Amino acid sequence: MKVTVVGAGAVGASCAEYIAMKNFAAEVVLVDIKEGFAEGKAMDLMQTASLNNFDTKITGTTGDYSKTAGSKVAVITSGIPRKPGMTREELIGINAGIVKDVTANLVKHSPNVIIIVVSNPMDTMAYLVHKTSGLPKNQIIGMGGALDSARFKYRLAEALECPISDVDGMVIAAHSDTGMLPLMSKATRNGVPVTEFLDEAKQNQVAEETKVGGATLTKLLGTSAWYAPGAAVSVMVQAIFCDHKKMIPCSLMLDGEYGQSDICLGVPAIIGANGVEKIVEIKLTDAEKEKFATAAQAVREVNGDLKF
Ligand code: NAI
Repeated sequence: MKVTVVGAGAVGASCAEYIAMKNFAAEVVLVDIKEGFAEGKAMDLMQTASLNNFDTKITGTTGDYSKTAGSKVAVITSGIPRKPGMTREELIGINAGIVKDVTANLVKHSPNVIIIVVSNPMDTMAYLVHKTSGLPKNQIIGMGGALDSARFKYRLAEALECPISDVDGMVIAAHSDTGMLPLMSKATRNGVPVTEFLDEAKQNQVAEETKVGGATLTKLLGTSAWYAPGAAVSVMVQAIFCDHKKMIPCSLMLDGEYGQSDICLGVPAIIGANGVEKIVEIKLTDAEKEKFATAAQAVREVNGDLKF
């Protein structure tokens, strides 16, 4: 099976690398608008194949979407990343035009494709793909929660001074510095609630560090992160290709779930061969419900800036 990754920049190339190294796809097609860039990234990655023991074929094209035909999954990473001090929402002007255009090209050549949206502001870009692609809603998935949950687990393990494999936790709601909702009430260390180990001040610190996880890296790197975003996408693509039916928090079009409709927000879902197989409705505390609703309101305001 074939996967297309649009945007051969930092995140796109990282996606392609992790997907290839996991060796579950027949082909990864990288697409970029910069002349020769995707071809170059594909060639460089292919020259790691004998070193990293994978058989996935990686090819690149400068905007020739006929090469993407028949893709099972397409990942959209094209667009600009934020610079230090910027919010993800500030990227909407440029990225909305790019995402709309890329979506039309992808669907033209792969009418049954499952699209994973990465470009920011991601919840709004996922909403845009829903409104413009004509694809069924189970075939459009925004990537945010998988990354934010990995960052939550990293911060939890740090606070608990334990290995990351000992902790479990999930982040839902919006993929923004203020709208992320790390579910502390449900986070565990080897099955024991983390609230039994961490006092309230420490819990708040972990939640805050998780929410600004992307901004912290942007400040250090001068641009946004790529390793963890690429790895998060690869887990989602693998869940679809291998029909894992894995529960992953993703930004999905809601139709009454969590009290919201006509909006894409991060919620846990079962991801398998059909894309979104089921949205999982978990019980939130009253405080969590309130934070979810506030995040939704902020995303609605950003969505209001979209022009279709
Ligand atoms: P980058 O600048 O390294 O790469 C973006 C690539 O897109 C460039 O190579 C550019 O030439 C290409 N591009 C621009 N317009 C295009 C078009 N019309 N068709 C094809 N390719 C086009 O940026 P990076 O760091 O890879 O980030 C990509 C996007 O992903 C940004 O919007 C960033 O904010 C977002 N992001 C989202 C995350 C998430 O969790 N959802 C995590 C990290 C980044």
